[in-house]
Amino acid sequence: MTESSIFSGKFIVVGVCGGIAAYKSVELIRYLVDAGAHVATIMTPDAEHFIGKTTLTALSSEPVHTSLWDDQSVIPHTRLGQKADLIVVAPATARLIGSYAAGISSDLLTATLIATRAPVVVCPAMHTEMWEHVAVQHNISVLRSRGVFITPPEEGRLAGGDVGKGRLAATHSIVEVMTQALQPQMGNGSLSGKHVVVTAGGTREPIDAVRVLANRSSGKQGHAVARAAASRGALVTLITTVEMSPASGITQVQVETAQQMQEAIEKIAPSADVIVMAAAVADFRPVPIADGKWKKEDGVPPIVLEATPDILAGLGKIKRPGQVLVGFAAETSNLVANAQGKLERKNLDLIVANDVSLPEVGFGHETNAVTIVSAYDEPVTVDLASKTTIAQRVLDSVEKSLHRIQEHT
Ligand code: CTP
Repeated sequence: MTESSIFSGKFIVVGVCGGIAAYKSVELIRYLVDAGAHVATIMTPDAEHFIGKTTLTALSSEPVHTSLWDDQSVIPHTRLGQKADLIVVAPATARLIGSYAAGISSDLLTATLIATRAPVVVCPAMHTEMWEHVAVQHNISVLRSRGVFITPPEEGRLAGGDVGKGRLAATHSIVEVMTQALQPQMGNGSLSGKHVVVTAGGTREPIDAVRVLANRSSGKQGHAVARAAASRGALVTLITTVEMSPASGITQVQVETAQQMQEAIEKIAPSADVIVMAAAVADFRPVPIADGKWKKEDGVPPIVLEATPDILAGLGKIKRPGQVLVGFAAETSNLVANAQGKLERKNLDLIVANDVSLPEVGFGHETNAVTIVSAYDEPVTVDLASKTTIAQRVLDSVEKSLHRIQEHT
């Protein structure tokens, strides 16, 4: 399912607070309307200092709401709260986050948030000092513990010219979290009772006490697989080098090196029904690791590399009947043939191959394009799509493999 079909026909309330990032809500509202959603926008009184009501009314599916009192309907907050399939607040100020966490309804937006049972996505935007304040962080963790989805702010230039964490997340990141928030409602629990283990991120191999040999993996594809599996009801263990914001149903194990990843996965592999090795594991590591920090006056360090163990191949050797093992392959040529070779050599059920030489594909990008090569079926090609969509297609193939294996065991 594409993201646009997820939003199609949905009643989405977009809350806009008073911050300079309010202008970015224009892009989000336009995206959602184009994707087929009915968008009702609520502006807080302060938001009107930053963006015109006329602009947002022109883009939304109904006139913008600003107050509990001047709306045609007598109780707009309960109408909007009950009708909503999803509420997203972008940008969310420290005040809004604090009121929502405390359950204080001081305007139409907070009243609607308290009146709804729909999933809520909060997208904070504020200065770094405010974002890092202990009160704001406490309120964010309160909201998270209640199941509110948070799209964390990004690093970048802030109003006033300074640079730091606090900038509203990019629209595609907000859309990705909104997609996740809608998924549990749509989820069919098709992986419920299954233990899915996912690895994510690039390993970092120490050179000395301060330097590492790393790669460009962001961990986004593996994290998307973990979230998608949890939304299908699986119990997920995520072994990752890149911390992911907490999500229900997912236990995280933080690792750094290939060896730590291997130790973590080998402990839980016997209990896993599905293992997805999305991590970019270093193929080589420095040996020996220099004691302390290599000093410049000692000259250029002679870095010698040794091969790391192939974790996936090791898992292929101990695969138990009924278990589905999935690898990833980053290729630059002969995509399917190379992936097929790896699938056979490592005793996999599926391998997700991507051509990382293409634009917008793979490492660091928000999008991916893959061919899923199976030990049982014809390859499935998924054209350029968000990593969330790719994750769903990978899990479709995983479920097919699980059924196939169960029928034959
Ligand atoms: N992998 C692993 N352990 C390693 C290296 C890779 O488990 N030391 C896993 C990755 O997580 C991925 C898959 O193996 O799922 C593909 O790895 P890749 O490096 O592309 O394959 P190789 O067989 O090492 O082939 P090459 O690097 O020559 O393309």
